Amino acid sequence: MATKAKKIRHEVGIGIIGTGFMGKAHALAFGAVRAVFADSVVPMAVPRLEMICDTPEQRAIDKADQFGFSRATGDWHQLVNDARVDVVCITTPNRLHHEMALAAIAAGKHVYCEKPLALTLEQARQMEQAAREAGVQTCVGYNYLFNPAYLHAKRLIEEGEIGTVVHFRGWVDEDYQADPDLPWTWRANIAEAGLGALGDLGCHLVSMACGLAGPIDSLIADCQIIHPTRKLADSGERRPVENEDTATALVRFANGAHGSLGTSRSAWGRKNRLTWEVHGTHGMVCFDQERMNELRLYRNRGPVAEQGFTTILSGPSHPPFAAFCPAPGHQIGFNDLKVMEAAAFLSRLAGGDLPLTDFAGALEFERIIHAIDVAARSGERQHL
Ligand SMILES: NC(=O)c1ccc[n+]([C@@H]2O[C@H](COP(=O)([O-])OP(=O)(O)OC[C@H]3O[C@@H](n4cnc5c(N)ncnc54)[C@H](O)[C@@H]3O)[C@@H](O)[C@H]2O)c1
Repeated sequence: MATKAKKIRHEVGIGIIGTGFMGKAHALAFGAVRAVFADSVVPMAVPRLEMICDTPEQRAIDKADQFGFSRATGDWHQLVNDARVDVVCITTPNRLHHEMALAAIAAGKHVYCEKPLALTLEQARQMEQAAREAGVQTCVGYNYLFNPAYLHAKRLIEEGEIGTVVHFRGWVDEDYQADPDLPWTWRANIAEAGLGALGDLGCHLVSMACGLAGPIDSLIADCQIIHPTRKLADSGERRPVENEDTATALVRFANGAHGSLGTSRSAWGRKNRLTWEVHGTHGMVCFDQERMNELRLYRNRGPVAEQGFTTILSGPSHPPFAAFCPAPGHQIGFNDLKVMEAAAFLSRLAGGDLPLTDFAGALEFERIIHAIDVAARSGERQHL
């Protein structure tokens, strides 16, 4: 009689602090990840949807019910110190990441924190050091690095399909602060938000630039506040906007390539235009997150009269697309990137080494956005 091999089930209790945009994305990801990666041969810890925290507590109770989590609390300290919580997801506004992460690490928990790590580089360094010394696993929400289209571009570049990379151009634009009449919010306040467009958007572009063209050696930059004051919603009093609406940097990569990075949170019509072009000596590869299932490739091969850009649609031949859908052209979406990120983190927790951005990796990306800020303020080239 055949005996069934006994599988060791490494279960981890998931706790999420914050149930907004990203809290929901994390909840969806941990709820779906086992089914999506059911056929994966990579060992992964099994998530147990344990606890949700938000304020007021009733919001946490409602969200725990809706997201399928067992318990709820209005006090994040309780979640962080709960014996059945092994992984703390920090999906709260930026100003809370540092304190929450340090408390979770001190309690021996693994931490999955949203980007940017913290308000300042110093806080981010402390978080990285604390996690390293405690020996806990970490993950940061640089989810765009999981897109099968991005991973395919990276493979094409590494295999020499476009020759030597000589130039990188990237922008990441949205329009959530474009309207001059929008009221003042915490996002405009350095003490609560940290950097502006750079911390919200630019860090994602930096993560992709480094992944495709390698480390950045030095840069010069300029930042701009387009709307210097905004009205308080209740009193109408005008408050200053302290952080940048736009940032532009000229960068030099360690491999000798040059490039430019730009970001704006005040670009009307742009909803998530995280877009880049990698120029090589024999071709080019281009991407736009607003069309996240497409990659455009140009190779200077064959008769000149027939050369032109090819549009490659993401499909099962671009891992891990097939885990979601067996048919090409059926498209994956933003939340699927979070499922991939959660899978990578669960594999780490099971002793695997699927690539992900941990606190150390995030610190490298965030050194660059802070260097852009310093370069713009000082007018001096920053060396990284
Ligand atoms: N990785 C990505 O692509 C991506 C996208 C958007 C946002 N983010 C990041 O995610 C983080 C959260 O952004 P969001 O858009 O989800 O914000 P959000 O405002 O939608 O949600 C924040 C949640 O935190 C809760 N919260 C605030 N203070 C709390 C406290 N003391 N205790 C418990 N809960 C508390 C709020 O009630 C809210 O539910 C930010 O750091 C942001 O930069 C990442």
